[in-house]
Amino acid sequence: MANRTGTIRVAPSMLSADFSALGADLAAVEEAGADVIHIDVMDGHFVPNITIGPLVVRALRPLTKLPLDCHLMISEPQRYIGAFLEAGADMISVHVEVEPHLQRALAMIRAGGAKAGIAINPATSADTLAEALPYCDYVLAMTVNPGFGGQKFLPPSVEKVRRIDRMIRDRNLDVAIEVDGGIDRDTAPAIVGAGAEILVAGTAVFGHPDRRAAIELLKRRG
Ligand code: DX5
Ligand code: ZN
Repeated sequence: MANRTGTIRVAPSMLSADFSALGADLAAVEEAGADVIHIDVMDGHFVPNITIGPLVVRALRPLTKLPLDCHLMISEPQRYIGAFLEAGADMISVHVEVEPHLQRALAMIRAGGAKAGIAINPATSADTLAEALPYCDYVLAMTVNPGFGGQKFLPPSVEKVRRIDRMIRDRNLDVAIEVDGGIDRDTAPAIVGAGAEILVAGTAVFGHPDRRAAIELLKRRG
């Protein structure tokens, strides 16, 4: 079963890349057919890990034409949206769990010329998306609890993505569903069938000896 648009985009997560050679790994996945570059921003507060910030996004920006998708796993995301826009982000998602003024944050992102996403944790109800859904360009549905790469896909995510997809269809919105966490050749088919269009994949791409094969496999399995 296909998703709403009949397309699958693969977004390798740079969290699983070699941090001493980010530029080379980015070039490798672009060459291997990646559609989007997913960048995991963690603050050691909203999630129990610390990764990278706008300076690294700025450094990667000139190296690729692919959209840079910044997943902000940080408290008070509004404080940093401007910095990520300036750094060259094309997509920015903020978590519903830490943003009490979601429409305002999404409007800031769009005003800066980027696509605005709402990220949502596995334990957060899809209902929390209802009011802000028309103000976003994509929903980033976490399929693991965020913080680390290489975790196991949570099966209830399939039904949740189906619910989100139904909300989007029922209201005739142009909102893409991105999924993130434990996405591989085995978990991709069901989640794409439920409506996912953008597949974030860290381990499945960077842990595979042949990145092109890994990306093609994800597209085919969807
Ligand atoms: C988890 C991050 C993910 C992660 C995905 O907190 O948001 O993007 O890097 O990695 P895999 O595909 O290995 O689960
Ligand atoms: Zn992510």
